[in-house]
Amino acid sequence: MMNRGLAAGVRLGCQARKLAPLRGLSATVQSRSQSSLQHDRLVVEQTTNPKDKVQDVTTLGFGKYFSDHMLDCDWSSADGWAAPRITPFQNLSLCPSALVFHYGLECFEGMKAYRGIDGECRLFRPDMNVARLNKSATRLALPAVDPEEFIKCLKDLVRMDQDWIPEGLGYSMYIRPTMIATEPVLGVGVSNSAKLYVLLSPVGAYYSGGFKPVRLLADSKYVRAWPGGMGDTKSGGNYGATIRPCKEAQDEGFDQVLWLFGDEHQVTEVGTMNLFVHWTNEDGVEELVTAPLDGTILAGVTRQTVLDLANEWDQFAVNERTFTMPELQAAIQDGRVNEIFGSGTAATIAPVAEIVYNGVSLKVPTAETQEDSSFFSNRVSETIADIQYGRIEDHPWAPKL
Ligand code: COI
Repeated sequence: MMNRGLAAGVRLGCQARKLAPLRGLSATVQSRSQSSLQHDRLVVEQTTNPKDKVQDVTTLGFGKYFSDHMLDCDWSSADGWAAPRITPFQNLSLCPSALVFHYGLECFEGMKAYRGIDGECRLFRPDMNVARLNKSATRLALPAVDPEEFIKCLKDLVRMDQDWIPEGLGYSMYIRPTMIATEPVLGVGVSNSAKLYVLLSPVGAYYSGGFKPVRLLADSKYVRAWPGGMGDTKSGGNYGATIRPCKEAQDEGFDQVLWLFGDEHQVTEVGTMNLFVHWTNEDGVEELVTAPLDGTILAGVTRQTVLDLANEWDQFAVNERTFTMPELQAAIQDGRVNEIFGSGTAATIAPVAEIVYNGVSLKVPTAETQEDSSFFSNRVSETIADIQYGRIEDHPWAPKL
C-alpha cells in the first residue's frame, strides 16, 4: 500500500480526523495490511539549539533532564506507521480530546544505555523491552512495531545523543519509549491513531536515598494488580494508582510499598520493582524465589536477568512461585532469610533492610548490617554491571550501538 507518511489525518489537530475505519475493530489487526515501522524511512532533524549538559553526575537523580533529541513515530489505522523522525526534544501538540487523556490509553518502556569502561555505548537486552512494549500495546489495542526496525531507529537516536550518556558505575541514560492513543474522540473504543515517542534522560540512582537499602510497608489496604487485570502491562495507570499509597507509606517514613494480594497476602512486587527472596524455605531448601508471571506480575528484564544468572550459577534452587507474607514473616523471625531485594531497570538491584507488616518490624540482613558480605544480590548486581559497562566483553545481552 502506498504510504502517505505524515499525512494530514495522522497529524493530531482536533479538526484533522479522517474518515475513521470502524471503531471497535482491533487496530492491531487492521494494522497488518498497513505500513510497518521502517528504519530506512527515518528522517532526522538536528537541533540548532543544543542544551547544556549536567556536569556533576551526582546531581542527576532520575528522569529530570532530557537530551537534545527524541524519536517520534505516528501511526494511523488507515496508513499504518508513518516515517519515523528524530527531532529536537520538544513539546507535543495534541488535541485535548485525545483518548490518552481520558482513558489512560498508553504504555511505556524503561531501558538504559551505558557508557562502558572502554568508552563504548551499550544497550541491555533491548529485544526484551521491545517485545514487552508490543505485548503492552496489544493489551491496549494499540499498534505493535517491528522489533528490529524499531531498535535500529532507537539506536540511531541514542548514537546521536551519546555524549549525554553519563560516565561511571551507577550512571546511565534511561530510555523511555512511550506509546499514546491520539485519536481525538471521547467514545470509549480502539484508537485509530497513535504516537510512539522515545525520550533519553541521563540518570543516576532512582531512589532519593541513593543506592541505600530500602524500608517497606507491607499492607493489604491497596492492591496493585489482580487476576485478569493489567498487572503485567507496562501502562501508566498501573503506576499512577500506586502514587497515593506510596505517598501514605512515605509519610510514615517508608521508602516503598510491598504489594500483597489476596486473603493469604501473597507477596507480589515492591514499589515499581519485582521482588526476590533468598532464604531457606519451610522445607529446609535454600531457594531464590520470586512471584510467578501469572498475569499480575510485570515481566521485568532485570527479573529475568537475575533468574537467568541464578540458574546458570546453580548455587541453590531458583523458583518462580507464589509465597505469602506470613511465610516470609516466619522465615525472617526464624533467621532463615539471607536477603530480600527488588529488581528493576531504574534501580537495578535494591536491597531491602526492613519490612513492617501488621505493625511488626521485620529486619532483613543487608551487606551494611552483616559482616559476611557474600550476598547473592552483590554478585548478581556486580555481574549485571560487568555486562552493562563492558567489563565482560561482547556479552550477547549488551549490544554495542
Ligand atoms: C523500572 O525500574 O523498570 C521502571 O519501570 C521504573 C519506572 C516506572 C520509573
